[in-house]
Amino acid sequence: MKVLVVGSGGREHAIVTSVAKSPRVDKIYCAPGNAGIAALAECVPIGAMEFDKLVAFAKEKEIDFTIIGMDDPLVGGIVDVFEAEGLRVFGPKKNAAILEGSKAFSKDLMKKYNIPTAAYENFTDPKAAIAYLEQAKFPIVLKADGLALGKGVLICENLDEAKAGVKEIMEDKKFGASGNTMVIEEFMTGREVSVLSFVDGKTIKIMSSAQDHKRAKDGDQGLNTGGMGNFSPSPFYTEEVDDFCKKYIYQATVDAMAKEGRPFTGVIFFGLMLTEDGPKVLEYNARFGDPEAQVVLPRMKNDIIDVMEACVDGKLDTVDLQFEDNAAVCVVLASDGYPVSYEKGFEIKGLENFDGKDGYYCFHAGTKFDENGKIVTNGGRVLGVTAKGATLKEARANAYAATEWVDFANKYMRHDIGKAIDEVK
Ligand code: AMP
Ligand code: GLY
Repeated sequence: MKVLVVGSGGREHAIVTSVAKSPRVDKIYCAPGNAGIAALAECVPIGAMEFDKLVAFAKEKEIDFTIIGMDDPLVGGIVDVFEAEGLRVFGPKKNAAILEGSKAFSKDLMKKYNIPTAAYENFTDPKAAIAYLEQAKFPIVLKADGLALGKGVLICENLDEAKAGVKEIMEDKKFGASGNTMVIEEFMTGREVSVLSFVDGKTIKIMSSAQDHKRAKDGDQGLNTGGMGNFSPSPFYTEEVDDFCKKYIYQATVDAMAKEGRPFTGVIFFGLMLTEDGPKVLEYNARFGDPEAQVVLPRMKNDIIDVMEACVDGKLDTVDLQFEDNAAVCVVLASDGYPVSYEKGFEIKGLENFDGKDGYYCFHAGTKFDENGKIVTNGGRVLGVTAKGATLKEARANAYAATEWVDFANKYMRHDIGKAIDEVK
C-alpha cells in the first residue's frame, strides 16, 4: 500500500520509520518532510496546512492511508477534509481535535465528567481575570486557550506577574487569537508523565509511558521548549498509577468525548502530573508527542499500520498492543540559543555513523538539504538521538555515546536527560 505522512519533525521521522518497517507498505510519501525523512520516504513540498493540495496529491498518487502527525492541521480540520473526499486518514476530526485545540474546552470536559485535573476558571474578559487573581493563591497558572507551540502557559509567582501575564495573553495577544480565552488554573506539584494512547472512538489502548524534559537547560532551568529529550518507560509510572488512570482518566476521557458527540479517533496524549492526591491531567494533545514518539514508537512491537487501521475502522479491541521489555532514551541536539534565537544552515557531519546500528536512531527535527545537497541545520531542535538499552541506564549511556557521533556548529544539548532514573532503586 501507499502511505502519506503529514508533518516535518522528529515525530514524523519516527512515524515514517515505523511505517517503513511494515511489510504491507510499498511506498511512503511525506509532506513536507525533512532531510532525514527523505532517506525513507519521498518528500513532497506541500505544507501541512495546504489541505486542498494534500487532498489532490493523495488522489493523484492513489494514497491508501494518510497519517497526520501535527496538531495544527488536526485542529484545523484536515481529517474532515480528507474524509469528505473518501480518503482514509488517521487522526481525530476537527470536533474531537478540540481536546487539544481548546484548553477551556478540555477543562470543562474534565469537570463535567469528573476526570481529575487542577481546579480552574475560564475567562474571556481580562478585568474579570484580574479580579479573580486578586483573591487567588500563588503560584498560579495562566494558559492561553488555543495552540501556542507549547509556550502559552505562564506560571506566576505573585499578583504582579499574573497581571503582566493577563496583559501578555489577553491584551497584547502574544499568542494571537489563542489568548481570546484564558484558563486560570491551580498550581500543582509532582512528577510529570506522558502517556500516549491509540483510540478508535470507543476503545483505548495505552502505549508505554515516557517522561519529557521541557526546560532548555540542565537541572530544569531556562525557558520551556518543545522538549529537549525524554525516556521511556517512566519508572514513576507504577502499576498503582496505571490502575488509577485506567479507572478515572483514560476510558473516562474517551467515553466523555463520545457522549459529547465528538468521538475521538487517533492518538490521545495524556500529560499527567503525579500529585500527592493522585494523578491529574495537565493537558491533552490530539497527536503523538514530540519527542515522545521518538522513544515510544521504536519500542512498539506491532505493525503501526495494523494498529492505525484498526483505529480508523473501529476495531481497536481486536489489537493486542505490545511493547518491547526494554527502554529508550532520546537526547535532542539543538541549535545553541533555542528556544529564543539561533543561527541555522550549518552542515551536519557524521550522520552515516548511525547506518546499520541496531537500536540507534537519529531522528531529524530541523534539517534540510542545502543547494549542494549537504544536510544542514534548519531549526531550533535539529536532531533527536535515540538509543535503546536493556535498562534505562543502559539506554541513557548508549544515547549519550551516540550524541558524539554527529557534529554541527552551535550543537547544544542537555546533559541530564534521564537523570531522574538514578532516584529509582
Ligand atoms: P501544558 O502545555 O498545559 O502541558 O503546560 C506546559 C507545562 O507547564 C507542563 O508540562 C507543566 O510543566 C507546566 N504546567 C501546566 N499546568 C500546570 C499546573 N496546573 N501546575 C503546575 N505546572 C503546570
Ligand atoms: N513533548 C510535548 C508535546 O509533544 O507536546
